Amino acid sequence: MKKLLLVSLLVIAMMLFVGGVASANGGPHGDYTATTDACAGCHRAHTATSDNLLMADSTYDLCVSCHGGSATGANTNVDDGVFVSGRGGDEGTSTADGAALLGGGFVNYGGAAASSTHDPTGADNMAWGAGNERGVLAAISENLDCASCHDPHGSPNYRIIKEEINGVAVTVAQSDEGAGKNYGVVSWSAQQSNVCGACHNPYQHATADTTTGTFTHAVDVTYGGSTSFTDGNGDTVSVDLASGYVVCQTCHFPHGTSASMTGYADGAGPAGDSALLRKDNRGVCQACHQK
Ligand code: HEC
Ligand code: HEC
Ligand code: HEC
Ligand code: HEC
Ligand code: HEC
Ligand code: HEC
Repeated sequence: MKKLLLVSLLVIAMMLFVGGVASANGGPHGDYTATTDACAGCHRAHTATSDNLLMADSTYDLCVSCHGGSATGANTNVDDGVFVSGRGGDEGTSTADGAALLGGGFVNYGGAAASSTHDPTGADNMAWGAGNERGVLAAISENLDCASCHDPHGSPNYRIIKEEINGVAVTVAQSDEGAGKNYGVVSWSAQQSNVCGACHNPYQHATADTTTGTFTHAVDVTYGGSTSFTDGNGDTVSVDLASGYVVCQTCHFPHGTSASMTGYADGAGPAGDSALLRKDNRGVCQACHQK
């Protein structure tokens, strides 16, 4: 009897575990059943208005029909970079209403207009460093849109990041994908830079790479010092590590930023704008180096 109980407890535990993984993707994205209704949220069999049988004019239009600023259907408003409860999305997260999203914002962030973004509309296929040297624009395999980085059908990766981006296999362990996931609190795995390295490969080096005529800041190295700095005026900047590692997202947002660049920081670097940086000017540097 006791043995039976133990076995059935084990089975229940295993079911719960599978259940936890199964609910990882969220919303209409993935873990589909044999008789799912989800396909009809995005596809029309005969009356689609764009290729891939989408019921919107483009992948971008489809995504922002739920995730956009004035949309309903998803609580993660990626245009304004904010979680808004009650839009008909997934309330089963522990994200606070009004929390700033970890990805930044495509149109606004923190209530201010975006100063640089990845262009998610499918208009551009030239990425810095793609298969080439840093600071040089080169073509990637397709025009960039939301589905260049995310798989709308779900994925075993963190935040349904695609398993193959720009022809490169990408692994980013799920670190916060169970019930109660939080879109406002960092919990990145050490593999987070792999997302960015798939398109900007020469930027991803653990030691300063000098093989191409330019040097680059180390990425994917551990850092044990303070990641927060308060200046004489009482202004504080902090950055986040990924399980102890410096990753691209320590300094950059993947979606867009509203950081402002002035003085020496204005127009510095080939992109000539705020380059998706998380802090005004060079706040990201001061968070760790505290000069
Ligand atoms: C959240 C919106 C969404 C849902 C839900 C969805 N799809 Fe898709 N689907 C897309 C988008 C966007 C593309 C184009 C992807 C791209 O551009 O890479 C696509 C592409 C496809 C493709 C062609 C490319 C491929 O991946 O093979 C097939 C087939 C497909 N979907 C089938 C389905 C089926 C079947 C379902 C339901 C089980 C479904 N989709 C649910 C958005 C969705
Ligand atoms: C260049 C790659 C890239 C593109 C393009 C991209 N995303 Fe993301 N997105 C990410 C990454 C990386 C994260 C994880 C952010 C984190 O947790 O730090 C993310 C997170 C998210 C989230 C979770 C909320 C958040 O901000 O953390 C949503 C929802 C989302 N993206 C939707 C979209 C939509 C819709 C588009 C197109 C309008 C899009 N993404 C375009 C890489 C991308
Ligand atoms: C029919 C509405 C709908 C459409 C269309 C839609 N989403 Fe979502 N998406 C959701 C909901 C609901 C969630 C759960 C979180 C929330 O409420 O915002 C979600 C969650 C996500 C997440 C976070 C997944 C995670 O692991 O936590 C990403 C990333 C995302 N969507 C990207 C996209 C992209 C890219 C597109 C377009 C190809 C798209 N979505 C289209 C409703 C939608
Ligand atoms: C320590 C902070 C930091 C980290 C980590 C970091 N970057 Fe940057 N990045 C910057 C700054 C600052 C700029 C602005 C230009 C400059 O100062 O070089 C920039 C600019 C860029 C640009 C615009 C083109 C250019 O060369 O200026 C790209 C693309 C880029 N980074 C990609 C990446 C990728 C991909 C990773 C991870 C593999 C990464 N960055 C990691 C700070 C960082
Ligand atoms: C699917 C390919 C792809 C991935 C993945 C990708 N990028 Fe990009 N990135 C691009 C393209 C294309 C551009 C230039 C056009 C644009 O801005 O959308 C760009 C531009 C940039 C810029 C310059 C933006 C500006 O100021 O003009 C930075 C910085 C950058 N990426 C950093 C990152 C970081 C950090 C990640 C990972 C979170 C990442 N990229 C992931 C394709 C990609
Ligand atoms: C998350 C913490 C962190 C941030 C943010 C950061 N750094 Fe660093 N920095 C490091 C670490 C760790 C090293 C040592 C890398 C190594 O192992 O060689 C380093 C090394 C350096 C070096 C010495 C480089 C060399 O090749 O010897 C310089 C210069 C530097 N950083 C400047 C910057 C600048 C400028 C910024 C802002 C754009 C910045 N750092 C942002 C952690 C950080």
